[in-house]
Amino acid sequence: MCGITGYIGNRDAYPIIINGLQRLEYRGYDSAGIMLFDGQEINFSKTKGKVSNLQEKVENDISASGSIGIGHTRWATHGIPNDLNSHPHLSQSGDLAIVHNGIIENYDSIKKELISRGYTFKSDTDTEVLINLIEEVKNQENVMLGKAVQIALSQVIGAYAIAVFDKTKPDEIVVAKLGSPIAIGVGKNFEEFFIASDASPFIEYTKDAIYLEDEEMAIVKIGREVAVRKIIDDSNVDAKIHELQLNLEQIEKGGYDHFMLKEIYEQPKAITDTFRGRLLAKEGIIKISGLENNMKKFLNAERIIIVACGTSWHAGLVAEYIFEDFARIPVEVEYASEFRYRNPIITEKDIVIAISQSGETADTLAAIKLAKSKGAFVFGVCNVVGSSIARENDSGAYTHAGPEIGVASTKAFTTQITLLALMALRLARAKGTMTSASYRLYLQEMELIPKKVKQVLEIDSQIKAIAKKYLLSTNCLYLGRGFNFPVALEGALKLKEISYIHAEGYPAAEMKHGPIALIDDRMPIIVIAINKGHYEKIVSNIQEIKSRKGKIIAIVTEGDVTVKEIADHVIEIPEVEEALSPLLTTIPLQLLSYHIAVMRDCNVDQPRNLAKSVTVE
Ligand code: AGP
Repeated sequence: MCGITGYIGNRDAYPIIINGLQRLEYRGYDSAGIMLFDGQEINFSKTKGKVSNLQEKVENDISASGSIGIGHTRWATHGIPNDLNSHPHLSQSGDLAIVHNGIIENYDSIKKELISRGYTFKSDTDTEVLINLIEEVKNQENVMLGKAVQIALSQVIGAYAIAVFDKTKPDEIVVAKLGSPIAIGVGKNFEEFFIASDASPFIEYTKDAIYLEDEEMAIVKIGREVAVRKIIDDSNVDAKIHELQLNLEQIEKGGYDHFMLKEIYEQPKAITDTFRGRLLAKEGIIKISGLENNMKKFLNAERIIIVACGTSWHAGLVAEYIFEDFARIPVEVEYASEFRYRNPIITEKDIVIAISQSGETADTLAAIKLAKSKGAFVFGVCNVVGSSIARENDSGAYTHAGPEIGVASTKAFTTQITLLALMALRLARAKGTMTSASYRLYLQEMELIPKKVKQVLEIDSQIKAIAKKYLLSTNCLYLGRGFNFPVALEGALKLKEISYIHAEGYPAAEMKHGPIALIDDRMPIIVIAINKGHYEKIVSNIQEIKSRKGKIIAIVTEGDVTVKEIADHVIEIPEVEEALSPLLTTIPLQLLSYHIAVMRDCNVDQPRNLAKSVTVE
């Protein structure tokens, strides 16, 4: 998954583009590049490594003048990360330049055809093939860039978000979208335009944005409205200008060392934003418009299938326990990447809930399309407004967590659970599977969650001190039961993806079926042992571990004295209903993995090999 950005207007393009690329680095950061047009020539520079490497190179390489340009930060799909495979790519003539986020699946056959017509290639990328296909169409059909892009794209299979520039027509940039996101920032009086994979690069310049839909393209030209068209038939599209809710400091780190820490601390506010306007505890009302408008469908559903990946899949597992406990609707949770390739049985009586923070995860998007093709109703739980998954669903609800920049998902997880718990409560009320007393209790409990999360955040220094003792561990086990079994999985994922320590999550009762053989006096075991559910059973699990000299870090309910007797460390969290406890028990695990990763000098916000959203398969 990559980040693209561009500018056309009356300002210096270089600082706008390079700053935009820095904001987009979370989308991919193995190489970066920029193209600027100085009125005569295309000047471009590109390099392996981060945007900061590109900045150094540009200052030595090229004249950074010009008020039109495009830029790119890459997460390699075709061609290893190196200077040549970085974007932008120029066509053979040198007149056309392109930046691209996505995959052209039939690039190989197109490349062969172009080679037979005398084209040569400098890189191994699908993108360089695309820009030469556009040039070939432009020359053969003797058409302008916009038309050439439209014809060329009708010949490709795959996903793309592209920005294309033609130096022979230097007053426009052509953009097109299928499967990867593009936002166009609209300047005052159409005097300037900003192009980017999301709005973060241009929000300080304009809050007006057009989001292209799939199979749409646009010619962005100074002084006139953006002309959006359908790629398939070149027909006009009446593009809607959204007013952005983002503001700059939401993007910036806000004084924290890392986006991840900022986002961990944002959780009280993020959870509040998730239930704002939806949870009216005093009136005993929950209203989620996407659910209200489809209540009949949900009430008649024979099954809910949850599809997601990674942390979102863990949120789906928590939701399974909550939906089945509260609303008595059968729930199955599927890895989207498996669901899409097996031959699942899906009927019109099924409701599919797709969970995705970015709304761009290719596997989840494909799973939704499969479900829809088999007649299921698809409801999306996304965070990014206007994202591909959000637009693909039949209906949905946004988590309103605000931008999550750190690759490791934190507030996305807790806000997904918040929204899904509200949905389950609302359905339980509608189905009469929960007494009104319990219902009201849960509404009040939910309203108290942000305050309780804040209380957990206040013991951060204690968690940091524990982290210090285990930062050299090579393996960790996370154990939980019931609603907190998925939290054990999530805690393990957090640790491994940012500190590179191997960690596994397990249902605590599974220990005796194998994993207990791993335990020795070097192994830290994190156990979620709140005083709810099968508390006495988890206490005996802890004793089993103790007798094998495992080092125990236990998450307990404040005031617990039993576990305190046995564990090496206890982290106390406030009393909370078991079904909502994942919203609290996950916080210490986020902080523990964060501090261990920082002490191990890992790149917390951009861990190796990972990207914020995986828009490739
Ligand atoms: C979790 O910390 C990771 N960033 C990753 O597992 C992520 O949750 C997964 O790729 C799904 O992303 P999505 O929620 O944007 O679809």
